[in-house]
Amino acid sequence: MRITPSILNADFANLAAEIARIPSADAVHVDVMDNHFVPNLTIGLPVVESLRRCTDQMLDIHLMIEDPDRWAPAFAEAGAESVTFHVEAAKAPVRLARELRRTGARASMALKPVTPIEPYEDVLGELDMVLLMTVEPGFGGQKFLDLVLPKIRRIRALIGSRPIWLQVDGGVSLETIGRCAEAGADTFVAGSAVYSADDADAMVTALRDTALA
Ligand code: DX5
Ligand code: ZN
Repeated sequence: MRITPSILNADFANLAAEIARIPSADAVHVDVMDNHFVPNLTIGLPVVESLRRCTDQMLDIHLMIEDPDRWAPAFAEAGAESVTFHVEAAKAPVRLARELRRTGARASMALKPVTPIEPYEDVLGELDMVLLMTVEPGFGGQKFLDLVLPKIRRIRALIGSRPIWLQVDGGVSLETIGRCAEAGADTFVAGSAVYSADDADAMVTALRDTALA
């Protein structure tokens, strides 16, 4: 069980210090938004390059952008260990996943809550992770969508015994993480739950313990 806190709700003027608050995290989840794929604008490649210089933590980049075919490889080249593109935006997901892996990064594909996995079953063999959105992408602090639980189960079944991580993102908290783990998720993004806690690292540990319970 891996906990990958999102820095979307952290203080963007003090990101190095904010990342230092979560030493127990398995990775730092960085939400990149372009105001086209989602109606919000966050941070881009220069910030990720700076983050790379200020932490040894694994960087888990979630690209909520149009044209990931063009942009995603640059994030891998910047030193991110994992790069996630949205299948709804990718023109050539197989080619893109292979390109990411060639740079040494883990290749990951994201689905919005109601995007079906079945048309993309053949891509799974090219991936190290599937990210399933459990809210509509774009903002932190939204309510977890229970309607996604059956899809967590379906993706887990399709993955089978392959070493592909299944990450859920959106509305993950102490209240919802157990349902996600029970359905088959093994990697959990939590933004507001971690960064609104007084002791962010204790929340990371509590989330992991709850997922394991
Ligand atoms: C939303 C982002 C998430 C978000 C999670 O579009 O992809 O990573 O920051 O935040 P919470 O945990 O608050 O839903
Ligand atoms: Zn995210």
